[in-house]
Amino acid sequence: MKESRPKLVLLDAHAGLREQITAALGPLYLIKNFSLTADALRYAHVTEPNAILISEARAQDMNYALVKSMRLDPLFAMMPIVILLDGNDSGQRAMALRAGATSCLAKPYNLSNFVRIISTALSASVEKRWESLAPLQAEALKCGIAVFNDVSERTVAGENVPYAEISAACEPLLAAVNDDDIDSLLQGVRDHDNYTFSHSLRVSVFLSMLGRACGLTGDDLNILTIGGLLHDIGKIAIPSLILNKAGKLSNAEFTIMKGHVPATLKLLDRSPGLPRGAVIIAGQHHEKIDGSGYPDGLSGRRLNDLARMAAIADVFGALTDRRVYKSAMAPERAFSIMSGEMREHLDMHLLALFREMLLDAKLH
Ligand SMILES: [Fe+2]
Ligand SMILES: [Fe+2]
Repeated sequence: MKESRPKLVLLDAHAGLREQITAALGPLYLIKNFSLTADALRYAHVTEPNAILISEARAQDMNYALVKSMRLDPLFAMMPIVILLDGNDSGQRAMALRAGATSCLAKPYNLSNFVRIISTALSASVEKRWESLAPLQAEALKCGIAVFNDVSERTVAGENVPYAEISAACEPLLAAVNDDDIDSLLQGVRDHDNYTFSHSLRVSVFLSMLGRACGLTGDDLNILTIGGLLHDIGKIAIPSLILNKAGKLSNAEFTIMKGHVPATLKLLDRSPGLPRGAVIIAGQHHEKIDGSGYPDGLSGRRLNDLARMAAIADVFGALTDRRVYKSAMAPERAFSIMSGEMREHLDMHLLALFREMLLDAKLH
């Protein structure tokens, strides 16, 4: 299987710490550690990692001079460089950032801080690449992440975010999904390290395309785009080790994972004016036609078209996406699973329509 974990290079003089960090981050990142700068740089030139971590355990001045000189090398000019500080000293932090570090992490390190800071740095480098897309697509992706983050943060903080505000902020995204070049949107989020965002944007695009194929237009189509973008927002509450777990979830973990649906509905409750269609997309995208889905085990006719469409976009988006633990599945393979072992779960008529439309669009 093709390795999908982002590649990291760790430069740290302390063997003990080096091994601890490598072991802790191993499940999420393909991490290679070095004690010598020259070895780390040589390796980085060959493998082009996604990010470099430099520990402050060496003389600080040496690190900052190193970061400065790396920024002059085209390979490292845009690469995320994270400095691991020995203590939470604002002076050191400022010096590291001035030298060109992307971000700093202070001791005592804990896994969730580590993952958060690396993930933010990796996502920022993907977002920088959006600048090279056509303006419509670049704006759409920027607005997508801004709305996603804004709604997550403000609703979690207990603030209301009126739907009219979300809808206005989504205008570039709505314009882009009506444009022919949606492949740029899908490719643009492919390596984004916020998986929930990347998955949600893809679901939003697939759902809108399916809606268009069903003849929906205007506000009805906008509800699909925005509903798709926000359908999993409650995953913010799920620990990343469960969210990114490579193997099958245990029963206890699956129970926690299923909690993302009520968590999403609770957050979306803070969005006055939210259309019922968006609530159905968020609340019912894991329901299955044979009644084996969650949270309510709805079946047959109790599942309306929006729930059926959302389930197709969600499953197709998840199968064809790259994850930490799996490479992307080819669309045809995904369709054969969806129309084979999942045929009791999904609406086969809508699936055929979706497949036909995607083949016409020739997406990657
Ligand atoms: Fe979900
Ligand atoms: Fe989803």
